[in-house]
Amino acid sequence: MFLTDEQQAILNGAKGETMAKVIESVVRYGELFGAEKLVPVTSKYNHLVTSFGLKMITPVYDLMDRLIKDGAISKQKFSLDPRPLDKNVPANFIQNLIFNKFMYAKQDFYENQLEQLGMMDKDAFTCACYMDEVGNKPEKGEVLSWAESSAVVYANSVLGARCNRNSGIIDIMGSIAGYVPYFGLLTDEGRKATWIIEIKTTKKPEAQLLGSAIGMKVMEAVPYVKGLDKWLGNDLNDAACTYLKDFGAATASNGAVGLYHIDGLTPEAKEMGEKLICDGAKTYVIDDAELERVYKSYPVIWKNPDAKPKLCFMGCPHMSLEQLKTWTDKVETALKEAGNKKVLIPTVFTAAPAVLREFEKTPYAARLKETGVITSYICPLMYMNNPLSGKMPVITSSNKLRTYTTARYYTDDEILMQITKGGKA
Ligand code: F3S
Repeated sequence: MFLTDEQQAILNGAKGETMAKVIESVVRYGELFGAEKLVPVTSKYNHLVTSFGLKMITPVYDLMDRLIKDGAISKQKFSLDPRPLDKNVPANFIQNLIFNKFMYAKQDFYENQLEQLGMMDKDAFTCACYMDEVGNKPEKGEVLSWAESSAVVYANSVLGARCNRNSGIIDIMGSIAGYVPYFGLLTDEGRKATWIIEIKTTKKPEAQLLGSAIGMKVMEAVPYVKGLDKWLGNDLNDAACTYLKDFGAATASNGAVGLYHIDGLTPEAKEMGEKLICDGAKTYVIDDAELERVYKSYPVIWKNPDAKPKLCFMGCPHMSLEQLKTWTDKVETALKEAGNKKVLIPTVFTAAPAVLREFEKTPYAARLKETGVITSYICPLMYMNNPLSGKMPVITSSNKLRTYTTARYYTDDEILMQITKGGKA
């Protein structure tokens, strides 16, 4: 790999042994992907995926200790993925014991390390760090060193920033070094589409279902989606961004998409249109029947498929302010129609702490509370990832949560029906 004199000097130890190891990690990582050079990270903030103080990840704590001790501090302040714990989320005595004493026993210790390393603030725990309320929203063309897949795909596609789907820890290494390897989605060539997706549905496709279908088909390729602007419009307004947040997270988790283009809507597609499509790109047509086929293909891994749901998680990735308000209206109306006062299944809506704070300032917050829905900043996946929670019948409209846990996927309408009226849509 070509290195500038400055990069080579750091590698040779000009800034100490620890910094040499940091840049060596970045170089070796880049070499694995055939990167020819390193380029500077240009965003104001960074984002780290490793937010949880899991007891067993002692090598991470040792690494962080060493970085702090040797002054190898992140060049940028950073936000982080959501916290794994929140006492507002229903959990029984044994679950609480397991969460606090065994699984995430190092949470406070780790948060202390993160503060020393350059965490934005105590409330910067969210995967949707690009929300205006949170403030880690990169500009078009900026180079990032992020790893959280749902955030990477959003930053690349909706904001037009440039970031590879890095692995955890490499995100902080890139930020400390101030450089990332130049390959893949950082290059113009790597941002071209090798798949054309034609949307031919008779109604607006469910974001998380459409993303899942595309992710499973194209895997890590870049898709160019035609026909979605018919349903989303040509403006990246709050509703379109919220849709693309959920759509993108599903493409990234059900496949490994790091960038998509939406014809007539996302920044690069608006600028370059079909020039973004490579010669010989394959085509995937999605109609109502195809979405139905994908939905039916999801395995149900509950021990008792007919069990009554014990918990419902919405907000993976974290909900936007717009989404919290829309869902407040939807839950209220559906409860009224059914003659019910409160939701029938314990339901948790998750969002960034800063988004929840803004939400609290609106009249919607009291109205949502009245319906019995709980708000939280937790990561539902962190809640689910243990044998006890894994046995619980949990429902969600997040295709990411479905993919990584035993939670069962339902469409938004079906979720609304279940939590407000009981039974299925
Ligand atoms: Fe965010 Fe956790 Fe889901 S990080 S995307 S809420 S798995």
